[in-house]
Amino acid sequence: MTARRIDGKAAALAIRERVAAFVPAFVGKAGRAPGLATVLVGEDAASAVYVRSKNRATAETGMVSFAHNLPDTTSEDQLLQLVTDLNADAQVDGILVQLPLPPQVNATRVIETIDPAKDVDGFHPINAGRLASGLPALVPCTPLGCLHLLKQELGDLTGLEAVVIGRSNIVGKPMAQLLLAENATVTVAHSRTRDLPAVVRRADIIIAAVGRPEMVRGDWIKPGAVVVDVGINRIPTDDGKGRLVGDVAYDEAADVAAAITPVPGGVGPMTIAMLMRNTLVAAHRRAGLADPEGL
Ligand code: GUN
Repeated sequence: MTARRIDGKAAALAIRERVAAFVPAFVGKAGRAPGLATVLVGEDAASAVYVRSKNRATAETGMVSFAHNLPDTTSEDQLLQLVTDLNADAQVDGILVQLPLPPQVNATRVIETIDPAKDVDGFHPINAGRLASGLPALVPCTPLGCLHLLKQELGDLTGLEAVVIGRSNIVGKPMAQLLLAENATVTVAHSRTRDLPAVVRRADIIIAAVGRPEMVRGDWIKPGAVVVDVGINRIPTDDGKGRLVGDVAYDEAADVAAAITPVPGGVGPMTIAMLMRNTLVAAHRRAGLADPEGL
């Protein structure tokens, strides 16, 4: 075990405290606190836990949360109507519709209905396009959190070889754009990549976001690389409780890497911290105020 363990919990707490510190001045200027609306459709246990954590973090930061919990029988039209109402609500700066959505709802249509200025998940094509074009955007929270940890660990990323494993709109693609903007040399690998271990062995920075438990092995990792593990997979155990593991075989990787994020306690807490950050930023932009500095 030679790798430094990257403490995402501590980094997330620091960001949440910095966000909270900006709230009183915003209230002074705007006459109200920043507001985040969360929308949860159905009873998925994991989604319910995530959304509750987001609402709790919002309140702890001094912002206002508007929680909308809808039955899993909600129609697409009903959900689109709620989003339209939230778009028009002046108290709401951010709208987060928790994914996945039930099968009768087209998630793409829902995302495209959110006002891009309130799209604190950064999933709207306008925000994805703005990020890819190097324009100010709202950026997806998980890759933003990964980038924060990488810069904390490495400082300037210029010229470093980064391999992103996974090409989702939520993590892989925006992660690649963020790394490019930091002047890294970026490879996006995925399930059809030929000889993935050889591709990963080139990397100074590895971002694993495939959703396959412990897929990335120790001998895929170049000595001294920095590993960011986005995976959260529950694997069965003898006691029936299950155990959370990432997309990286942690113990093997920790013998080779310079630094690595644990699961849990790595990237996970950063996602919520960055949601708080995005809500604060969206509120400032909507109020015609300059972006909060240093976030
Ligand atoms: N489901 C899993 N991750 C996310 C996320 O970052 N945002 C939303 N809205 N849903 C998710």
